[in-house]
Amino acid sequence: MSIIDQAIVEFDKALRTSSGTIGQTRRLSPASSIADSELSAIEKKKSAGLMRVNHCGEVCAQALYQGQALTAKTARVEKQLQAAADEETDHLSWCEGRIDELDSNVSALNPIWYASSFALGAIAGALGDKINLGFVAATEEQVCKHLEEHIEALPEADEKSRAVLLQMKEDELRHKQSALDAGGTDFPTPLKAVMTGVSNLMTKTSYWI
Ligand SMILES: [Fe+2]
Ligand SMILES: [Fe+2]
Repeated sequence: MSIIDQAIVEFDKALRTSSGTIGQTRRLSPASSIADSELSAIEKKKSAGLMRVNHCGEVCAQALYQGQALTAKTARVEKQLQAAADEETDHLSWCEGRIDELDSNVSALNPIWYASSFALGAIAGALGDKINLGFVAATEEQVCKHLEEHIEALPEADEKSRAVLLQMKEDELRHKQSALDAGGTDFPTPLKAVMTGVSNLMTKTSYWI
């Protein structure tokens, strides 16, 4: 592909990912097998806010993986990142579906988060495969922490959202481990603390907007 073709493909992915039109994917949503329960207006609003944050996290994950794949040093790592991004589209789709069911919308800030995550991913990729994979592992660790908090924070009756987050957490733990197994560097704690700060900013804003 020429550089212009590649730019068009990346732009198309960015638009579809951040606008929440990724559609159906390989695995059915874990929410689909769970009966609907009555949620009050307040509970619905809370669940929608949390699911919007998780959707935004998945938008960031897509952008990071695409950016990282673009500058990965070896074809092996590029392939691994593309495969991981494909698997993450399930999460995007499940969160989108649940947000729809809760009569809410994805975050208006998604395009900004996509662009900044893509740039960050491209920088991580340029720093070499060990750091690139280490970045995947550290990011997945952050995602798992948020998922755990959200599983606790969801309204008791919202079993559908909970089922989605539980499956996502299981997948993210696996992604973290396979990045470390493939040779990723375990990032030092201070660097992880910076990542926590950035991800907190994302969660605080996308809950509301
Ligand atoms: Fe994910
Ligand atoms: Fe993941």
